[in-house]
Amino acid sequence: MKVGVAGCGLMGAGIVEVCLKTGHETVVREINDECLERGLARLDKSMEYAVKKGKLTDAEREAARSRLIPTTDLGAFSDCDIVIEAITENREWKSTLWKEIAQHVKPDALLATNTSSIPLSSIAPSTGNPSRFMGLHFMNPVPVMKLVEIVQGIETSDETIAEGRAFVEGLGKTTILAKDTPGFVINVILVPYLCDAVRLLEAGVATKEDIDAGMKLGCGMPMGPITLLDFVGLDTTLSISQVLFEEFGDPRYAAPPLLRRMVESGFMGKKCGRGFYDYTGGGK
Ligand code: 3HC
Repeated sequence: MKVGVAGCGLMGAGIVEVCLKTGHETVVREINDECLERGLARLDKSMEYAVKKGKLTDAEREAARSRLIPTTDLGAFSDCDIVIEAITENREWKSTLWKEIAQHVKPDALLATNTSSIPLSSIAPSTGNPSRFMGLHFMNPVPVMKLVEIVQGIETSDETIAEGRAFVEGLGKTTILAKDTPGFVINVILVPYLCDAVRLLEAGVATKEDIDAGMKLGCGMPMGPITLLDFVGLDTTLSISQVLFEEFGDPRYAAPPLLRRMVESGFMGKKCGRGFYDYTGGGK
């Protein structure tokens, strides 16, 4: 299958990487050359790491890279069998982009959004083909995490879900299926947990290091919640919590003020060098 990915940020680059590595010719589209270059650098760095870790040979990396078609032109999606949108978690931006993508894709192409919380039904009309539209929620880091959460919108056909599942399994991932509710399965559970960790920090109950050590060593989490927040992105977590709070009105989804202040001050997490921890020296 020929794949199109809109957006080459943290998630988009990871999705492109797994598609390339599993033999798919993959078009990646960014809004301008600068964003495209930054995204490709991210992709190359991750594949370099995979080679260093012995997960990929040099030859496999070269073959994967040769399947990549980088572009700033949405028209390049015209012969793609599946288009996956992985841009910032913003309902209006996603809807606007889908209206543009709809003008270029094949009528039978599979259409997927990597949204982590926004209800599909609010974006689906913009795709022009809601029965072919589904959620494919990849986890970060995409090359490593084994799960993709598939989301079935009100109008998504069973055939679309079956084709989406087959595609994702071909990427070497395991799937779970969720209905179209805000946050689906993963983030309805994960985001209150992350927000609770910030609330503990805010209340001065424990240091960030101790909160992290508590969950890592005490509960066997691969990384503590404050480190995970930096990893996922504070802005992304804030956006998700806002969607969940707006939809459910439940205080457990409300963003803690400290999370808001951090984002307003430009502390977005590892991707920008500073979050709750400082990454400017390379390490944490
Ligand atoms: N390609 C292939 N393999 C890779 C790779 C790459 N680009 N990068 C790393 N790997 C492999 C490594 O080789 C290693 O494999 P091994 O165990 O067989 O040796 C394994 O992945 C772990 O990598 P590292 O040794 O470099 O790193 P760590 O052991 O420190 O693990 C981590 C890093 C995988 C990020 C781990 O800390 C982890 O699982 N953290 C939790 C991540 C998580 O919870 N993600 C989900 C977030 S929620 C989400 O994304 C949803 C969103 O909507 C919010």
